Amino acid sequence: MVKLGVLVSGSGSNLQAIIDNIEAGRVDAKIQIVISNVPDVYALERAKKHGLPSLVLPHKGLEREEYDQKLVETLKAHDVELIVLAGFMRIITPVLLRAFPMKVINIHPALLPAFPGTHVWQTQIDYGVRFAGCTVHFVDEGTDTGAIIIQAVVPVYDDDTADTLSARILKQEHKIYSQAIQMYAEGRLEIQGHRVLAKGAPKAPDAFLINPPPTIFE
Ligand code: GRF
Repeated sequence: MVKLGVLVSGSGSNLQAIIDNIEAGRVDAKIQIVISNVPDVYALERAKKHGLPSLVLPHKGLEREEYDQKLVETLKAHDVELIVLAGFMRIITPVLLRAFPMKVINIHPALLPAFPGTHVWQTQIDYGVRFAGCTVHFVDEGTDTGAIIIQAVVPVYDDDTADTLSARILKQEHKIYSQAIQMYAEGRLEIQGHRVLAKGAPKAPDAFLINPPPTIFE
């Protein structure tokens, strides 16, 4: 059982999915603390509804490093082993990463290393990629550059908007974040350089997806 600290800034739908999967016995984890840098966000309500400890740690007036030092103290005080960034809209500094090496994970709504950064749904549509997706990765000192744990792929349709695409991606986020946490809890993640091997995980089918689907073959 892995002890989690979940960091949020917003709606917390990924937090909700993780809570639901823990409650359903699909993920061997316990949420020790939910921390938001923004007061009154819905993620905090979700934590309260499920009887989970939560707190607001405002970042106003603090340097990034000072803020992260406070985070480290709070996370250690709650005996957190794995830090789960779930829509946490702050850049993490080495202060946090050095205190929790390879123990901070994030979810990003694109198939990294393509489309790092924020608000990437419209960027993916505008670029014209036929497939988008999401990535759970360990956080390193770069932006969205850490070792990849798991990815899910979704098609992009001609009539997609940022909203329809983000909803399609979010559905998969809710699955793969819990899956990543469970693999971590089971000690299956083996780091080899920039690769993460998922020991003992089933192999994805050797299938292909073509979008738009070809019409000239049966
Ligand atoms: C998601 O799009 C996630 O990929 C990004 O932030 C958003 C969080 O959404 N990192 P929610 O707060 O979990 O609903």
